[in-house]
Amino acid sequence: MNILVTGGAGFIGSHVVRRLVTKYPDDNIINLDALTYAGNLENLKDIQTSPNYTFVKGDIGDETLVTEIFNKYNITHVVHLAAESHVDRSIKDPLIFLKTNILGTANLLQVAKKYWAGNYDGKLFYHISTGEVYGSLEMGSDMFTETTPYDPRSPYSASKASSDHLVRAFYHTYTCR
Ligand SMILES: NC(=O)c1ccc[n+]([C@@H]2O[C@H](COP(=O)([O-])OP(=O)(O)OC[C@H]3O[C@@H](n4cnc5c(N)ncnc54)[C@H](O)[C@@H]3O)[C@@H](O)[C@H]2O)c1
Repeated sequence: MNILVTGGAGFIGSHVVRRLVTKYPDDNIINLDALTYAGNLENLKDIQTSPNYTFVKGDIGDETLVTEIFNKYNITHVVHLAAESHVDRSIKDPLIFLKTNILGTANLLQVAKKYWAGNYDGKLFYHISTGEVYGSLEMGSDMFTETTPYDPRSPYSASKASSDHLVRAFYHTYTCR
């Protein structure tokens, strides 16, 4: 497998990258991360010279770059974690959340669709969402479940909900037969 991990220098992504690199030495892990304030390559110092690991600095919304990565590494799997991820920042500056979380996800989906060209056997696009898309629970009320309706309450959660809908829409539109 040739696995593109996005946001692999972040809090969760760095653990995902380390786990994949160390547990699956025969697979290639390509980490695409823009290294915003939230990304830190120190998180990955211990595996940075592993033969099955490559780091690419760049934006998930850059169509040319993402296409180059798919072509160069023959990407078969995408684990998509890159996002603007902090609610407080989304209240101060919502537009960057829409750009990265919605348009960036759309760009990854579009490039994957083009590159895989209708042959989805052995391919995977794994999108990481957040519980915040379900909104807030009242004190003492039931837990969220898989059937809880979407009810985002911040620009962050609205942008993540949008990206979820896009991923589902691409799945149903292009891969279901
Ligand atoms: N941390 C949580 O509690 C939590 C909970 C639920 C879901 N999530 C989701 O999990 C994923 C990872 O969360 P995290 O806490 O590790 O986030 P994080 O903010 O720590 O890391 C995000 C990473 O994405 C990178 N990035 C941001 N914009 C980019 C762009 N345009 N192109 C390429 N890279 C970009 C950053 O540099 C950073 O390394 C996100 O999708 C988030 O919504 C996080």
